[in-house]
Amino acid sequence: MTKVLIVVGARPNFMKAAPIISAIAAHNRADRGPAMHAVLVHTGQHYDAVMSDRFFEDLELPRPDHHLGVQGGSHAAQTADIMREFEPVLAAERPQAVVVVGDVNSTLACALVAAKAFGGQNGRRPLIAHVESGLRSGDKSMPEEINRILTDQLADLLFVTEPSGVENLLREGRSRAAIHLVGNTMIDSLRRLRPRALTSPILARLGLSDGALKRYALLTLHRPANVDQREVFGEIIAGLKELAHQMPIVFPVHPRTRGRIAEFGLERDLAQLRTIEPLGYLDFLCLMEHAALVVTDSGGIQEETTYLGVPCVTVRTSTERPITIDRGSNVLAGTSAGSIRATIRLQLKRQGGETEAPEGWDGRAAERIVAILSEGLVSRTRPDAGRAACS
Ligand code: UD1
Repeated sequence: MTKVLIVVGARPNFMKAAPIISAIAAHNRADRGPAMHAVLVHTGQHYDAVMSDRFFEDLELPRPDHHLGVQGGSHAAQTADIMREFEPVLAAERPQAVVVVGDVNSTLACALVAAKAFGGQNGRRPLIAHVESGLRSGDKSMPEEINRILTDQLADLLFVTEPSGVENLLREGRSRAAIHLVGNTMIDSLRRLRPRALTSPILARLGLSDGALKRYALLTLHRPANVDQREVFGEIIAGLKELAHQMPIVFPVHPRTRGRIAEFGLERDLAQLRTIEPLGYLDFLCLMEHAALVVTDSGGIQEETTYLGVPCVTVRTSTERPITIDRGSNVLAGTSAGSIRATIRLQLKRQGGETEAPEGWDGRAAERIVAILSEGLVSRTRPDAGRAACS
């Protein structure tokens, strides 16, 4: 039995990893190749019930086999703590493969430990697979961009969600054989759980569906570049004023953002918004699906709104997910009040409705990943395989 260790750490990882665990179970049931044993490691980067536990329930993720309990800290401290805690787990489990997803600090920290772990099976380090590989915003001031670039340099199997990722990896010198355009596992989760999300009581709970559905907008903000400086945060809020006069703006507040609101004394400026606690996966999906407009600085939400055909305004100057712009559902607004206001006006005129889904956003991305992973593991065990599998 081959052992595959799957790492999750922060909120956006959970919906990307859950389908892979299910696909491994399906691979074993259907006897599609040597059986795989999935071992789930949670670094603890996100630890609150609302940021983590709730997602395990909604996504029906199994309990982690290992919880590293790392929690917050500076980037250096958090990354170092994850590495320190992950190393003995890797040494004890001796997996044949390590799967990391997305672009958070947990992704890079665990990929780096695995890349240097030569004490594993036959003295070889595990195969490293990166899910959501190749995305590039071109903005190296984003911590996630650093995590993406470095993780992709370490990984052997590069699982890509959109064509731009393939081009980026080739430009960075990665071999074509390592790159696999498989689609989007986050959309696997969305497709699987959408019917349940539509039964969520969240709209009624927020008073958005008494009789008929009320028009409302949904807002998320958590990027350090947007919320860690008072002037930038204040400017973004000013850009939302006109929208707030037209419809309620529901704002589930991320812990980082909550901290900054208190620190900067922005509570009065936010009175125009409907601030609520962070939501679970199903409630958020339901709110996103029915929103007239989504305003966000999240990466994943740009993709989810593209799939759902909900107009999205991204409060950033760049995106690592250009397919969301090409499809027309997403527009970059920058962070000045004027451009946010203008982009919101533009997007409110757009008709919603489903757009054609990008290639591989079909609910079967994880199945393709597991098939390629299985093949990679089998070819690695051949006597002549040498270290070639680590391209
Ligand atoms: C992280 C990811 C980001 C992702 C986001 C989703 C990195 C570099 N950033 O950013 O890509 O989009 O998660 O949420 O990995 N906190 C809590 N409770 C929690 C989690 C965090 O209170 O459950 C607090 C932390 O203590 C810290 C702040 O929120 O003060 C930020 O957490 P952190 O994990 O450093 O990064 P995020 O901003 O959440």
